[in-house]
Amino acid sequence: MTITSKQPNIGTTIFTVMSQLAAETGALNLSQGFPNYNCSPKLIELVNHYMHKGMNQYAPMAGIMPLREILAQKTADLYGLYYQPAEEITIVSGCTEAIYATMAAILHKDDEVIVFEPAYDSYVPSIELNGGKAIYVTLTAENDFTIDWTIVKSKITERTKAIMLTTPHNPTGKCLTKEDLNHLAILVKETNIFIVSDEVYEHIIFDNRLHLSPASHPALKERTFLCGSFGKTFHTTGWKLGYCMAPKELTAEFRKTHQWITFASPTPMQHAFADFMKEPDNYLSVRGFYEEKRNKFINWLKDSRFTLKPAEGSFFQMVSYTQITNEPDYDLAVRWTKEIGVASIPISVFYNQRNDNKILRFCFAKDDEMLEKAAERLCRL
Ligand SMILES: Cc1ncc(COP(=O)(O)O)c(C=O)c1O
Repeated sequence: MTITSKQPNIGTTIFTVMSQLAAETGALNLSQGFPNYNCSPKLIELVNHYMHKGMNQYAPMAGIMPLREILAQKTADLYGLYYQPAEEITIVSGCTEAIYATMAAILHKDDEVIVFEPAYDSYVPSIELNGGKAIYVTLTAENDFTIDWTIVKSKITERTKAIMLTTPHNPTGKCLTKEDLNHLAILVKETNIFIVSDEVYEHIIFDNRLHLSPASHPALKERTFLCGSFGKTFHTTGWKLGYCMAPKELTAEFRKTHQWITFASPTPMQHAFADFMKEPDNYLSVRGFYEEKRNKFINWLKDSRFTLKPAEGSFFQMVSYTQITNEPDYDLAVRWTKEIGVASIPISVFYNQRNDNKILRFCFAKDDEMLEKAAERLCRL
C-alpha cells in the first residue's frame, strides 16, 4: 500500500536528528528545547493525589473549570487582560495543538498566513495541512531579527487570513515591543485578519522586560488567538498541556476543531496545575531562574570566539561562529556534536529556503554542570 504524501518534503525533524546523534555519540545535548532537570516535587505530588482521588476519566472538552479560572485570574493580574473562563478559555494538549486547532478552525483552501522566519517548525505544516499557504517574511541576523513592518504590509493580500507571531521567540529569543504592536494594529485595522500568537515562553523573559501579548493591545484582542503552554513554565514539556484564549465567537469555532483533534486533555495534570498556580511565585520565579542560567552560560562563553547578543527571552541562546569557521551551519552542528561533544541546532532549519546566518542555537534549560562543561568545550574552538 502506498500513501500519496500530504507532506512530501517533511523528513525527520532536526530535533530528533540532533538528539539521536547526541545520544549515539554521548555529546552534551544543548539542541532540543527541554529541561534536563525535574519539575517541582509538589506538582508530582498533586498529580498523584488527583490520580488516587479518581480524577482519571475524561476532563470536560474545554478543560476543567478551576484551571480556566486560575488562568483567567493570572492573565488579568499580569496583563490587565480579561478572558471569561466559560466561553473564552480552552485547555488543550500543548501549544502545538492550540496552533493546529486554530488553523483548522480559521483556514479555507488557499487562504494565506504570514509567517516570520526563522519559524518554529509546527507552524507551516499546521497551515498547509489545513489547506492554507504560508507567506514568509524573512528576518535576518543583519537586522537583528527585528520586524520591518513595511515588508509585512507588502505581503498582505485579500487572501491573508492570519498573521502568526511568537513572543518570546524561538529560536531568536526576541520579544515583541510596544512599537511592533502599534504597527501591527495599524496594518490589520479594518481587515478580517486574525493574529495567532504563540506565547509558550511568556514567563521566560529577561532584563525586566514586560511580556507583550498582541492581545494586550486594545485594537488586537478581538482578533487574537493567544496560544500558551504549561510545559516550558513548569518544566513539564512531556505532559503536553496548553491552552487557547480568544474572544467568545472565536473560541466557539476553535472548540469545534479541538474536539475532533483530542477532545480533552489529561485530567489529573489539569487539577494539579489549577492548585499549583494558586501560588503566583510558582510561575513568576521562572524568569529569575532562567535569567541566571542565561547569564552563567554567556559568562562561561566569554573567552570563546563566538559572538552573541544575550537572548531577550526563551531558553535559547544564539551564537554566531563566523570568527571560527565559514562552514554551513547544518554541517557544523553535526560535526561539532561528533567531534567536540556538544549538540546544538543550526538556525537554517527554521527557514523555508535554509538561509544560513552562520548561527547556532544552544538551549540553556540544562543543569549548571552540563552548561559549564559545554561552554568549556566551546571555548576551546
Ligand atoms: C515556540 C514554541 N511553540 C510551541 C512549542 C510546543 O509547545 P507544547 O509542547 O506546549 O506543544 C515549542 C516547544 O519547543 C516552542 O518552542
